Amino acid sequence: MNFTVLSHAIHSSFIPVCYSVNVRANVQEAGRVEVQIERVVRDDFAEMITLADMTLPDRMNLHELKKYMELFPELIFKATYNGQLIGFSCAGIDMYQTTGWLLFSNVSKEFQGQGIGKRLIEARLQALRQFPTLRTVQVTVSETNASSIRALSAYGFRLAHAEQDYYGPGKHRNLMELPILPMIQPEKIESSIVIT
Ligand SMILES: CC(C)(COP(=O)(O)OP(=O)(O)OC[C@H]1O[C@@H](n2cnc3c(N)ncnc32)[C@H](O)[C@@H]1OP(=O)(O)O)[C@@H](O)C(=O)NCCC(=O)NCCS
Repeated sequence: MNFTVLSHAIHSSFIPVCYSVNVRANVQEAGRVEVQIERVVRDDFAEMITLADMTLPDRMNLHELKKYMELFPELIFKATYNGQLIGFSCAGIDMYQTTGWLLFSNVSKEFQGQGIGKRLIEARLQALRQFPTLRTVQVTVSETNASSIRALSAYGFRLAHAEQDYYGPGKHRNLMELPILPMIQPEKIESSIVIT
C-alpha cells in the first residue's frame, strides 16, 4: 500500500480554520484497484449527482448537494479510480463547530466492499478533527444498512438512539455518535504542571 500526501487549493473562505488542512490522498493497491481519495472540486458536480442517483435514488438531489458544496467544500471527498469518480461523501459541522455530521456517502456498486466507504469516513473524520472545538460526530443510518453500520462501528461510532419516521413515515433512522476527546495543547500541559 502506498500513501501520497497532496494538498489542494480550497475554493471557499467559509471556514478559515481549514485553510491549513493538508488532505491526505491515499493511493491504495487492493488487487488491481488503485483508488485515490481527495477533496471534490466544482467540476465533479455532475458526475456526483449521476452517481448518487444510481447508488441511493431519491436521497441526494442537485439542490442539497449544491448546499453542501457551498457550506462545507472542505468536508466533501471523492474516490476516483483512474480519474473516474467512483464514490463521494459529505460532512458538515454546526455553527458552534462542536458537532460534526457525516451527511452522505456512496460508492459505486462495482467498487463496494473494498474498503472505499471506510476510507471516505476516515477522510471526513480527519478533516473534522481539524476543528479544535469538535466534541462529537453524528450520523444517521438505516438499521438495515449493514455495510454502513459496520464501517461506522469500525471508527468507534455507537448507537445513540433510534429516530422514528426520521425521513417520513416508516423511514426510521438510527443516530450513531462518535465522541471526540479534546486535544490537549502542549503549552496547557506545561502550565498545569505544579513543581513543588
Ligand atoms: C454504504 C457504502 C458507502 C459503504 O461503502 P463500501 O465501500 O462498500 O464499504 P467498505 O467496503 O469500506 O466497508 C463496509 C464494511 O461493511 C462490510 N459489509 C459490506 N457489505 C455488507 C453486508 N451486506 N452486510 C454486512 N457487512 C457488510 C464490509 O465487509 C466492511 O466491513 P469490514 O471492513 O469489517 O470487512 C456503500 O455500500 C454504498 O454506497 N451504499 C449505497 C449508499 C448508502 O447506503 N449510503 C449510506 C447512507 S448515506
